[in-house]
Amino acid sequence: MSWRRIFTWKAAGATLATTTLIVIPSTVIAYKYGQRTILQAPPEELFPHSSTTKLSDLQPPRYCRDLSRVIPEFTQLGLEVVNTKPEIDHHTGNDFTTHKPLPGEVPQYIIYPKSTAQVSQILQICHRESIPVLPFSGGSSLEGHIHSTRQNLVIDTSKMSSILAINDDDLDVVVQSGVNWMDLNQALQPRGLMFGPDCGPQGLISGMIATNASGINASRYGAMSANVISVTAVLADGTVVKTRQRPRKSSAGYNLTNLFVGSEGTLGIVTEAVCKVYPIPKSETTVVVQFPSIAHATNAVAQVFKSGMQPNAVELLDGDMMHCLNYSGYTTNAWLEVPTIFFKIGGISDVVVEENIKVLNQCAKDNQGQSFIFAKNKQEQEELFSARKNAFFAMINWGKNEIDEDVRIWVTDIAVPLSRLSSVLDQINDRIQKSPFASIILAHAADGNSHVDIFYKHEQRAQVELLVNEMIELGLANEGTATGEHGVGNAKRRFLESELGADTIGMMRKLKMSLDPKRILNPDKIFKIDPDDDYEY
Ligand SMILES: Cc1cc2nc3c(=O)[nH]c(=O)nc-3n(C[C@H](O)[C@H](O)[C@H](O)COP(=O)(O)OP(=O)(O)OC[C@H]3O[C@@H](n4cnc5c(N)ncnc54)[C@H](O)[C@@H]3O)c2cc1C
Ligand SMILES: *[C@@H]1O[C@H](CO)[C@@H](O)[C@H](O)[C@H]1NC(C)=O
Ligand SMILES: *[C@@H]1O[C@H](CO)[C@@H](O)[C@H](O)[C@H]1NC(C)=O
Ligand SMILES: *[C@@H]1O[C@H](CO)[C@@H](O)[C@H](O)[C@H]1NC(C)=O
Ligand SMILES: *[C@@H]1O[C@H](CO)[C@@H](O)[C@H](O)[C@H]1NC(C)=O
Repeated sequence: MSWRRIFTWKAAGATLATTTLIVIPSTVIAYKYGQRTILQAPPEELFPHSSTTKLSDLQPPRYCRDLSRVIPEFTQLGLEVVNTKPEIDHHTGNDFTTHKPLPGEVPQYIIYPKSTAQVSQILQICHRESIPVLPFSGGSSLEGHIHSTRQNLVIDTSKMSSILAINDDDLDVVVQSGVNWMDLNQALQPRGLMFGPDCGPQGLISGMIATNASGINASRYGAMSANVISVTAVLADGTVVKTRQRPRKSSAGYNLTNLFVGSEGTLGIVTEAVCKVYPIPKSETTVVVQFPSIAHATNAVAQVFKSGMQPNAVELLDGDMMHCLNYSGYTTNAWLEVPTIFFKIGGISDVVVEENIKVLNQCAKDNQGQSFIFAKNKQEQEELFSARKNAFFAMINWGKNEIDEDVRIWVTDIAVPLSRLSSVLDQINDRIQKSPFASIILAHAADGNSHVDIFYKHEQRAQVELLVNEMIELGLANEGTATGEHGVGNAKRRFLESELGADTIGMMRKLKMSLDPKRILNPDKIFKIDPDDDYEY
């Protein structure tokens, strides 16, 4: 009979007077300190002793199959539960991404909670019944984050959309999870304030936290990770936690706020957040510089940052993108069709901005920048930057006219250290030139984050996918990441292993299992949680 069998879990708690018992190699170790209860080591199959969780350590999760049985319990609580076709469709996927849900990856019901307490009530029931749950905000994420791989229930927090406080002097806001970032900016504007991060127009605060969203302004204001001070979240079993009060600074233990940033709804449902806000720059202008090559452009960016300047935005558009803009006629400028950077320079006064422009001008000259254009007033600034803002529509317009009315665009999202960006982009361009595809490049250059957007026709999907995978691998080989800002979802799970290694993912899985042992929260996203899941999306 093994030690395990003698000290069964149920037998834990026996007392022992004066023995020191150390049993090796069994897991049972008891120390003597006078009269002391032997705390039985819990069985390993329930509580593995390793610091990481391998996929092979797990049994497949067991989920509730018949949600309809539980729905009356929700409605009795006064909750709004829907399953009409338009609602189901809206929560199944979106049209922006090439990564579509598989047939059958459809949610069964959608619940709209109105408060943290309601989210807690819902999760208590889901936890008890092992109901898989998809947290949902604006639905604009791009990598299969919101695919209902388990025919789950959707908890849509978009109706919790109040701005609870704007603390001007502290430069922070307290918001519910469903606040849209553009609505927030509108509310802040009369007070001379703005929110830093931006993403797809539909994005809501909690979705942005869950994907660590960033965007055009991240050069100056950082991604969501730099902008969230505290979150209120409901854990898988319904426990409500608030990660911090409202201080900017704190050494109070683990940074649980950051644990929720980029967690893609797998660790808890965020219901409230305290976020940083900024004064709208008193003076701001747009400067556009065109360069002979991408390497010249990225060298100029490196020089700008080394000079100590902090541009608000540094957006690189390659020659192909400039061609689309030129072709579309959306802007009045006729551009050279060469790599171009749109800088936004802001500061506390025109004098400060002018000083910055001088430095920028020198950086441009040192790197053979041509046509240094800067806006002299607000209207010119908006017009100049509108070229960047219209880039998306310009590329679609070009593709529809020049390739196919039904053209598709595959948007990649890799990031590498800035010094590697130009060589990576050159290698990518080489490969695209040898392929049958056309592409454009848009990069948040300050962060080494690039979106290579490839045009293709429906029947070329498999071929374009191979090319995209090569690009991601090129990024990884250059100390980069498979996703700079869009996240992993289930579309990029397989790259995460080569990016971070199996042990790092094993640590993430361990965290997931400790906080959500029934694996009900957004299953199958970021990494696999089911040993029977052999699907490569
Ligand atoms: C046109 C377009 C442009 C874009 N541009 C950018 C860009 O510039 N930068 C950028 O970073 N992204 C960009 N994106 C991607 C997208 O907008 C972001 O990923 C955004 O953060 C998603 O927010 P959402 O509210 O739509 O979240 P959703 O898509 O609803 O959800 C995203 C993830 O968050 C989880 N989640 C949702 N609500 C909660 C909650 N209450 N608690 C916990 N988890 C939750 C979901 O389970 C999911 O995993 C763009 C998308 C589009 C369509
Ligand atoms: C970015 O910041 C500027 C101020 O620098 C602001 O005017 C703008 O609305 C912000 N958002 C976007 C998407 O540009
Ligand atoms: C903790 O994480 C949040 C979110 O990423 C971040 O904004 C904050 O600066 C971090 N540090 C502290 C001390 O809270
Ligand atoms: C979020 O993004 C920023 C900038 O891209 C990065 O520095 C940070 O490590 C990310 N945080 C998380 C939790 O992914
Ligand atoms: C830009 O577009 C205009 C109008 O389509 C065209 O006349 C011009 O030659 C283009 N510029 C370049 C550099 O190709």
